[in-house]
Amino acid sequence: MNIPRAVAPCVDIVGWGLCLPPAELSNADLATILDTSDDWIVRRTGIERRPISHVGVSQLAYVAAAHALACAAMDPDDIDLIVLGSCTADDQMPNSASAVQRALGARRAAAMDVNTACTSFMYSLSTASALIKAGAVRNALVVGADTLSAYMDWDNRTPSVLFGDGAGAVVLKACDEPAGIVAEVLGCVTSARDELRINGIGSKFANAGLMYGTTHWDFNGPEIFRQAVGGMAAAAREVLAKAGVASADVGLVIPHQANLRIVEAVARRAGIAMEKVFTNMQARGNLSSASIPVALVEALAQQRVAPGSLLLLPAFGGGMTWSAHVLRWGKRTTPLGTSPIRLPPCERTALEIVAALRASKGSSRPSTPPPVETGRAPREGAVHPAPATRSHAAPAQAQCASNDIDGT
Ligand code: UT7
Repeated sequence: MNIPRAVAPCVDIVGWGLCLPPAELSNADLATILDTSDDWIVRRTGIERRPISHVGVSQLAYVAAAHALACAAMDPDDIDLIVLGSCTADDQMPNSASAVQRALGARRAAAMDVNTACTSFMYSLSTASALIKAGAVRNALVVGADTLSAYMDWDNRTPSVLFGDGAGAVVLKACDEPAGIVAEVLGCVTSARDELRINGIGSKFANAGLMYGTTHWDFNGPEIFRQAVGGMAAAAREVLAKAGVASADVGLVIPHQANLRIVEAVARRAGIAMEKVFTNMQARGNLSSASIPVALVEALAQQRVAPGSLLLLPAFGGGMTWSAHVLRWGKRTTPLGTSPIRLPPCERTALEIVAALRASKGSSRPSTPPPVETGRAPREGAVHPAPATRSHAAPAQAQCASNDIDGT
């Protein structure tokens, strides 16, 4: 007989980890393929470089998850639930969370994907916390991971200078002491839904005569900018009021790293000094779903998160979805352990990866679906096996065109 689990009063973050692919694309690199400049990108966004992935999103997610588990000193078999926030799935079906589950060997875990674009990790955090609080599961692995490089229209200089690839993960556990989400607000601006869209992937485009892997972006930068500033600032104020917390009580703000000017405007409107705001977009760009979890892990490593302190996490993304969370950090700010699991080596520069992506998009050669590797990444030093190839076309897998670009 299944005995219902007790409802948990609180949910603590007991593990955290990240995975950033090694190849970095600089602004100077971008200026060799687009009509742009380091000066423009730094002035208008604050971004100097961004990681570009040689593997698929589930491999990045798997490595980040392995580090989070080691940080929590937990085994894969301890995990009840994996929630993967992402808008760049390796496959439409099966989901990417099940690839992470299999790679980890987390045999007892349920596995689900959440897609709310750049806010996907925050929505995943809310979902998993609520399931723990309801007693449905005792713990969960929550991952934010994206590889927008594979979905990018590399001929469009507006979005292509903004995004990077990566993954961040946390382990959540039921606890009795006050920790975890103090308050959260989630929402979506329906009127702005069409301002940000990746055309070419999804059933709307399947069998519509589009070249395999072709993606074009609708991207109204100034309007998204306006919505992001207004949306994140309003969400930040609302969640602080809901939590009964003054902005002065917040120890650190970790916002979605869309653009330094957006973050500065949100901080100004929320009445928070920039000294209390963590930014990493200078070296990471906008990591989409991975933006906040990677920033959180980096803030912990830099000792910017004090035990028991309050964190404010405002986010914004396509849809246009928005969210803000107030978190009470727990007692521990250092990992209990580390994982030896690493990505397979990358033999190419970021510019070479992007050049191959550009060549593969809209080319006239017949569309051959790429090999898909979403299994277990090798431990450091291990030989990575050659991927199996597929023999049938599947337009919804266009995003994988770059994921296995190194044959990994
Ligand atoms: O994760 C959530 C989703 N993303 C965002 O939140 C992004 C929000 N938007 C933004 O961050 C900014 O709107 C951008 C960085 C995308 C663009 O900056 P902007 O200051 O809003 O520029 P703009 O679109 O108003 O364009 C100003 C000029 C234009 O030239 P003209 O018409 O004035 O001659 C653009 O063509 O800058 C030009 N431009 C560029 N120039 C060099 C646009 N992109 C670039 C570029 N390099 N990459």
